[in-house]
Amino acid sequence: MSTYLTELHRRRTFAIIAHPDAGKTTLTEKLLLFGGAIQTAGAVKSNKIKKSTVSDFMEIERQRGISVSTSVMGFEYRDLQINILDTPGHEDFAEDTYRTLTAVDSAIVVIDVAKAVETQTEKLTKVCRMRDTPIIFFINKLDREGLDAFDLLDDIEQKLNVRVTPLSWPIGMGGRFKGVYNLYEKKLVLFNPHGKQEEEDLIVFEDLASPDLEKHIGESAARTLREEVETVEAVYPVFDKKEYLDGNVCPVFFGSAVNNFGVKELLDCFVEIAPTPRQREAEERIVKPEEQAMTGFVFKIFANMDPRHRDRIAFLRICSGKFERNKNYRHIRLGRDLKFPSPTMFMASKKTLLEEAYPGDVVGLYDSGNFKIGDTLTEGEMLHFKGIPAFSPEQFRYVENADPLKQKQFAKGLDQLMDEGVAQMFIRNVDGRRIIGTVGQLQFEVIQHRLESEYNAKCRYEPVNLHKACWITAEDPKAMQDFLERRRRDIAKDSEGNLVFLAETSWILQTAQENFPKIRFSFISEG
Ligand code: G4P
Repeated sequence: MSTYLTELHRRRTFAIIAHPDAGKTTLTEKLLLFGGAIQTAGAVKSNKIKKSTVSDFMEIERQRGISVSTSVMGFEYRDLQINILDTPGHEDFAEDTYRTLTAVDSAIVVIDVAKAVETQTEKLTKVCRMRDTPIIFFINKLDREGLDAFDLLDDIEQKLNVRVTPLSWPIGMGGRFKGVYNLYEKKLVLFNPHGKQEEEDLIVFEDLASPDLEKHIGESAARTLREEVETVEAVYPVFDKKEYLDGNVCPVFFGSAVNNFGVKELLDCFVEIAPTPRQREAEERIVKPEEQAMTGFVFKIFANMDPRHRDRIAFLRICSGKFERNKNYRHIRLGRDLKFPSPTMFMASKKTLLEEAYPGDVVGLYDSGNFKIGDTLTEGEMLHFKGIPAFSPEQFRYVENADPLKQKQFAKGLDQLMDEGVAQMFIRNVDGRRIIGTVGQLQFEVIQHRLESEYNAKCRYEPVNLHKACWITAEDPKAMQDFLERRRRDIAKDSEGNLVFLAETSWILQTAQENFPKIRFSFISEG
């Protein structure tokens, strides 16, 4: 095999997603420990915002700014290059997570055994399902009392509209937690709280009927395990890798991240089944990772919070070809060739200069304002990668310049913050007023704070009575014209110039949908 294909097939790029507090940070850290990427626990900073205050957010951003390396955690494990893409912990930043999910090839979803499926789990899994991203579930905190395993799997199947197949099965939980039976490798794995799972804790156990089972876990647990495994085998499909890779069936593991339990099994199975870099859809055609011409897209922009160094880092996901330092690439939106003298790669706790990168890798490019989220780089071919979604925001405010002498800084600052994807901005057609739309409350404060500290501009918010902003399209230009005239006051444009309908109430939205059947109202824009 050529070096290129060998490198390509070595990549596994994924994200760990969870509702806050389910154990994402802990699991990430344990994976890095098992992968040998870090030596001590506590090295992965939680990016969780405990209090929803802007100062808390800014502090976290500042710390992360110093070590942006936490955005991508790369490490080698069993000859594979594993790239974990970090996602923000706070739900006000869910949109950032949605975008990161466009750059991964698979996802691990962490669920708290006591909480089952929570709101963020639901939203994030939906985004994965939109593009058939293969998912593995990790049910965490088995050292605590929680839901019965069958009920939990039912909850996952119903709420997330997926099919699951357990690859491990818990033996008790909470104080009675004895370990798991690995159904995939037919091994009994005994629980040793707070210990690193050692080889001797693994007992190969092909035949659960063997009386030796009682010796290891006791009579009652052995009986329950036999019964439950029998039910599992009758109810759930046999694991089929292709079904998983197509996004049809999701394997499930049980464990306790904080106790290092079940993590190695998860990692060992992950490296065996997780997908290599997948093909990506561009507006023009499908791009396969085997293609040798470099293509990639920007899914995240990280601002340097220090106003003396206004540079930013744009994160480029390589989709095909080999990326090389100092080579010219075409920035499709600007129609210009750019080269990058100091691209960076992130290896766990270190940031290193890279000479080359392959599909699945994420490259950090220093940027002085050339990039927007969604931008494509190629070797010249006109390509626009699809699927960086913008979600219809839920909170709105008018934003006004509060210092007439700083109009230019205000406009520039807002534009750049929007390019970074901090929030979305709509301009109302009738009066040209700017409306900021966000997923969470925190972004309004972040915008205000960053305009002041980075752009020396001041903004003021005014309330606007809006329920939803949704994108509108129509096949019939006359129908669109008619709608635009009749609803003049409620029309705006987003930063790409797409038409947006601003609905004041859910009733108004509903009647508009009923009265104008030729207009398509969408709540996600795949710009
Ligand atoms: P997140 O990134 O998904 O938000 O969750 P994080 O890993 O920060 O974990 C949330 C809390 O759950 C932490 O406790 C963590 O120690 C705990 N936790 C993680 N895995 C397990 C597990 O397997 N069993 C139990 N019992 N707890 C677990 P915390 O008190 O919020 O923080 P800390 O002070 O312990 O760090």
